[in-house]
Amino acid sequence: MPEAPSDPVAERFRRIAARPVVLDVRALGMSFRGAGGKTVQALHDVSFQVRRREFLTVVGASGCGKSTLVRILAGLAHHTAGEVLLDGRPVTGPGPDRGMVFQGYTLFPWLTVVRNVMFGLEMGDMGRDQARSEALLWLDLVGLASKAEAWPHQLSGGQRQRVAIARALAARPRILLMDEPFGALDPQTRATLQEHLLQIWQQVDVTVVFITHDIDEAVWLADRVLVLQPPDQDHPGGWLAEAVEVPLPVPRTRAMHDLPAYRAVRERIERLIRPPRPPAAERLPVFKMTAAGDEVL
Ligand SMILES: Nc1ncnc2c1ncn2[C@@H]1O[C@H](COP(=O)(O)OP(=O)(O)OP(=O)(O)O)[C@@H](O)[C@H]1O
Ligand SMILES: [Mg+2]
Repeated sequence: MPEAPSDPVAERFRRIAARPVVLDVRALGMSFRGAGGKTVQALHDVSFQVRRREFLTVVGASGCGKSTLVRILAGLAHHTAGEVLLDGRPVTGPGPDRGMVFQGYTLFPWLTVVRNVMFGLEMGDMGRDQARSEALLWLDLVGLASKAEAWPHQLSGGQRQRVAIARALAARPRILLMDEPFGALDPQTRATLQEHLLQIWQQVDVTVVFITHDIDEAVWLADRVLVLQPPDQDHPGGWLAEAVEVPLPVPRTRAMHDLPAYRAVRERIERLIRPPRPPAAERLPVFKMTAAGDEVL
């Protein structure tokens, strides 16, 4: 009997599972000393692995520990429990193996676009001429070679984030860490940059960890979506609710938003982030601000 044609999505996940683990997060916990000396637990017992060239997104309600997680992965903050291994080695501080793109525009305003991208290369001992020609290649990849001599203030918000991506990738990191990189952009620009990022990722051997609070962005970009839940009485600290595989083929197209598989994943994540609860008015002692008999029109 001829073999049934294999499902390309299942095949893709099998291929990813066969790749080496790049990032290994084990029982990670983080607590801060908050106002009045009170301990704030931001993360609790978070464990997951990311494999080479996987695109992982992390979603969760505001305050559930997403930025704390990415800062720990970047080595910008120390965790208080568990461990983070990159290629099997513990992360103890920032390093060139991790590229970072944050929401705030982080370009140096006193350097031209090409000098911004060259910056990390020159810090890594590359000569100026070679750094310049490599930087121009990366700018070309993000579609901004024509802006090489512009100053950051002469770029739009979306263009600045593209330069930030070029700068992060130029250092050839193992992992690209992104914390709501498109959060400040209008929806149109945001959609364009999402497409652009996926195109770039297909051409570069890099693993991506992308934080967002936008479920559509998380699903559309990712191989897998990690859902972090905020702390409650039963679970101290933001904890990992689930790692959801996105059963959509790659490359992605906007038309996939209409597929039942897309909608099912989206709804599942939505329910994990916002479990059905009684309306706030039934849980909270709210003051009634309308006179008896007033109707809501
Ligand atoms: N330096 C700090 N000191 C004390 N508490 C902190 C500190 N940084 C973060 N927290 C607390 O840790 C928790 C997680 O914060 P974090 O910034 O990681 O959330 P987030 O998921 O990124 O939220 P958002 O979606 O709003 O960006 C919050 O309760 C926050 O108040
Ligand atoms: Mg945050």
